[in-house]
Amino acid sequence: MKGKKLYPAAITIFGAKGDLTHRKLIPAIYNLFIGNHLPSSFSLICVDFLPDSDEEFRNYLLGGVNEFSRNGKADEMKWNEFSTRICYIQGDFLKLDTFVSLRKKLDSFDKENKQRGTRLFYYAVAPRFIEVISDSLYKLKLCHQEKKDRIVVEKPFGTDLDSSKRLNRFLGKRFAEAQIYRIDHYLGKETVQNILAFRFANYVFEPLWNHKYIDHIQISVAESVGVGKRGGYYDSSGALRDMIQNHLLQLLCIVAMECPDAYQAEMIRNAKTRLMQSVRIYKPAEVFKNVVRGQYTAGMVDDKPIPAYRNEDQVSSGSTTETFVAAKFFIDNKRWKGVPFFLGTGKALPKQTSVIAVQFKESPHKIFKDDIVPNRLIISIQPELEICLLFESKVPGLEMKLQAVDMDFIYQENYTESIPEAYEALILDVLEGDATLFMRADQVDAAWKVVMPILNAWKKFPTRQLHFYEAGTWAPAAARELVKPYAKHWFQLPVKNKVQPILKDSL
Ligand code: BG6
Repeated sequence: MKGKKLYPAAITIFGAKGDLTHRKLIPAIYNLFIGNHLPSSFSLICVDFLPDSDEEFRNYLLGGVNEFSRNGKADEMKWNEFSTRICYIQGDFLKLDTFVSLRKKLDSFDKENKQRGTRLFYYAVAPRFIEVISDSLYKLKLCHQEKKDRIVVEKPFGTDLDSSKRLNRFLGKRFAEAQIYRIDHYLGKETVQNILAFRFANYVFEPLWNHKYIDHIQISVAESVGVGKRGGYYDSSGALRDMIQNHLLQLLCIVAMECPDAYQAEMIRNAKTRLMQSVRIYKPAEVFKNVVRGQYTAGMVDDKPIPAYRNEDQVSSGSTTETFVAAKFFIDNKRWKGVPFFLGTGKALPKQTSVIAVQFKESPHKIFKDDIVPNRLIISIQPELEICLLFESKVPGLEMKLQAVDMDFIYQENYTESIPEAYEALILDVLEGDATLFMRADQVDAAWKVVMPILNAWKKFPTRQLHFYEAGTWAPAAARELVKPYAKHWFQLPVKNKVQPILKDSL
């Protein structure tokens, strides 16, 4: 348990048969259970429209835990104990009857516990169901106690600024803002949470964290997978909506925000929102100069063939949807005046790697004849969990010869604790009523404001500067051109034990 006393809790998952529930949510909740983080009395009510018995459904979930849990296969005794708390409701989200059945389960859970428990309603559903589910919860008063009842809404939160505002208004009429947990699983990643500790618990970096000492910052999330079975969703979304509007802009906020007055949800959310509202909004004419988009063609990743994006299942054959984005943003405030932030993400790239690179400026005064590589701090989010500082050192010998070396903090070498999955941290936060790592309505709107001019420009000119890149290669050349005035490369973490410590180019 993280600290707070937990009351009996009924966790309802809408979309119980979906991928998210199978791969992420149930393994996360099971791991919370075996780690003794859940309240002693809890119930897991899973709702979906396909027929299933409790027994079959539990077996289906067990398959997900065995395959995807960070702790490997479930322990038989623990699973048996856990699975007795799971029940399945077959029901259509569009019909009120489904929610009448849900009410019965919730009421009987409260009756067993002789008290009204905490209620968490997780929307693991397609966006079109968010409103109808919310409306039914509201009408049947299933989620009306502000202090005890919470909904968890997955991204995408709207598809543009207008729809996001509409959705916020809709939810705002039915629930208090404090009850709405807009989830961005990147914020639950251990390494991302550690950025707050790194920045605000170590005084040594704070004086350097500004335009005087930092040349530019790169935030890259490279994925080796293609869109796979998600073509239907992805083709109407694209990398800008799928990754930049949420995950990468959230990372930007954490890297660049001001120090909050306290480690307290609203203070942190205020600081992040203020930062997001300071990101410069591009005029239409500036978009193509500052944002590069690409789409993958057929190729090989890890020796496996990947079809061209346009040939992926449920993707239109003439699709202009971007599977790659690299963008340069500026933050118009005193701290970051003139410092470019490069955000890059793409699918079907040679390897999965998520890295934040803080490039410091060159020393203004040079006393050595060697070329000096300016300091660089790399925060690796995944798959390596690592923070690494690059600095110059004298090569042993009789000459004054310099070489860049790195100082590394590697999680696995420093901690024996196993690293919780993002969803474990976030679900526990919701149960505890801690919204620190969740997005507030105003922050989501501010993020949409940043991407709207880009979406509009691409809509107006669907094929202009749409760069194609072969699956399994690092991004279109135009993305490298974007960073060129500032850096030779997009950076990734040095591979351990390689002789050459200078960081290699990636994207
Ligand atoms: C999701 C996106 O939000 O994040 C996916 O919809 C993407 O397209 C995924 O693959 C990446 O998450 P992670 O945790 O695997 O980096």
